[in-house]
Amino acid sequence: MSEIHRAAVLHATGIDSIAYYGDGALVVDPDGKIESLGPWHGRSSGGRIHDHRPALLLPGFVDCHFHIPQIDVRGRYGFSLLEWLDRFIYPAERACADPETARDAARRAFQSLMAHGTTTVAAYTSCHVQAAHAAFEEAEAAGIRAVIGNPLMDRETPPDLRAGVDALAACEEIASRWEGKAGRLFYAFTPRFAVSCTPALLAASAEAARRTGCRIMTHLAENEEEVRRVRSLFGGDRSYAAVYDSFGLLGPGTIVAHAIHVTAEDSDLLARAGASVAHCPSSNFFLRSGRMDIGMLDNHGVIIGLGTDVGAGPSFSLWETMRDMLYTNEKTPARAFSTATRGGAGALGLWDRIGDFSAEKEADFCVYDVPPGLTAGSESRPDELIAALIFTEGGAKPREVWIGGRRIL
Ligand code: GUN
Ligand code: ZN
Repeated sequence: MSEIHRAAVLHATGIDSIAYYGDGALVVDPDGKIESLGPWHGRSSGGRIHDHRPALLLPGFVDCHFHIPQIDVRGRYGFSLLEWLDRFIYPAERACADPETARDAARRAFQSLMAHGTTTVAAYTSCHVQAAHAAFEEAEAAGIRAVIGNPLMDRETPPDLRAGVDALAACEEIASRWEGKAGRLFYAFTPRFAVSCTPALLAASAEAARRTGCRIMTHLAENEEEVRRVRSLFGGDRSYAAVYDSFGLLGPGTIVAHAIHVTAEDSDLLARAGASVAHCPSSNFFLRSGRMDIGMLDNHGVIIGLGTDVGAGPSFSLWETMRDMLYTNEKTPARAFSTATRGGAGALGLWDRIGDFSAEKEADFCVYDVPPGLTAGSESRPDELIAALIFTEGGAKPREVWIGGRRIL
C-alpha cells in the first residue's frame, strides 16, 4: 500500500527556485520511492495517511564533506590547516586504529547527522581499512545513505598513518563488498590531498576508481600554504586542480572539498571534467582558509554541494552551513536550500535517486515544526519559511526523519 504524507511540502526545483504546497501530499510507494507530489485536494484515499500538519516536510540534506574521526576534536581553534592537522587531527585519526573507537565514532556521527536533518553523507573515516568497514556497517544499521572513503596518505603525514599504493588492493576489497549495497552505500577512493600523496598514489587511486566505477573524494586548494606546498612538490607550472587532472583524478565521480584558491581556468577544468565541489563555508571561517567564490564556479557550470566539514566545521547542521554560505556570498535562502539538497545530490552523483521529490526518487525527507511567528499554509511564503529555518539558533532540528520511505528517527 502507498503511504500518503500530508503536510506543507517544499523542495527545490532549480538552482535558485522552490516549489511549495501549503497543503500538500507526498505519495510514497511500497518500495520507498516517490509516486507523486501535489496538492492534498482529492487525495483522501488510496493509501495509508500520515497527517503531519501543521508541520513542514522537506527533502533530507546531503552533506558532501564530513570526517568521522574528527567529531570529538571540533573547536580546536587558532591554527591554520597544516598545523591543525598535525596537532589535533592526525592524533584523533590515529585513535581509530582501535576498531571500537572507530565504530563508536561512526555510530555517533550518523545519529547526529540524521538528528540535524541529513539523510545522505559523504564521509571520510580514518586511514584504517577496518574503520571503513565499520563505518559501512554502522551506516547500514543506521539506515543513512552514505558515500564512505578511508583517506590515503603516503608522505608528509605521520608514518603510522601512511598507506601507499599497496593499500589499494584492500580498498578495492572494501569497494567490492559495499559499492552500491542496498542502493544506499557507496565507496570512494580518497587520496587525502596532494600534499600527502605521492604521484604514484594519486595515479593508482584514479586507476582503481576507474576500474571499479567508484567515486573519488579529495581536498583542493583550501589554504594558501597548502597551495604553495603543492606547487613545490609538483612543480610550479601547474595549478593544484591541473595536478589532479594530470593524474586522471578529475571526472564526473569526483568530489573536491573547499576549492577556495582556484582560478577561472581551474573552475573551467573542474566543470569540463564534470567534477563537483563540496563547499564548506563554516570550516573555511574556522580555519581562516579564505572565501570560496560561488559566482565564479557558477559561471563555469561547476556543480556545488554543501559540506559541514566536521571537525573543522563545528556543527552537524547543514542549516548552519547554509547560514554561513549566505554570510560569505550574496545568495538567496532558496539557493542555499537548493545547494544543500539538489546540489548535494548532483555533487555526489546521486541525482537519479535523491535531491528533490521528483517521481521515482527515493523518499528521503524530514518533518520540521514551523519556525515561531510563521505559519505553513497556502498563503505562506516559502522563502520566508526557509530563511527562518536557516537562521534558527543552533540549527533547526527535524522531529521526524524518513529515508527510502522508512521512518528512521
Ligand atoms: N585537508 C586535508 N585533510 C583535511 C582535513 O581533515 N580537514 C580539512 N578541513 N582539510 C583537510
Ligand atoms: Zn575535509
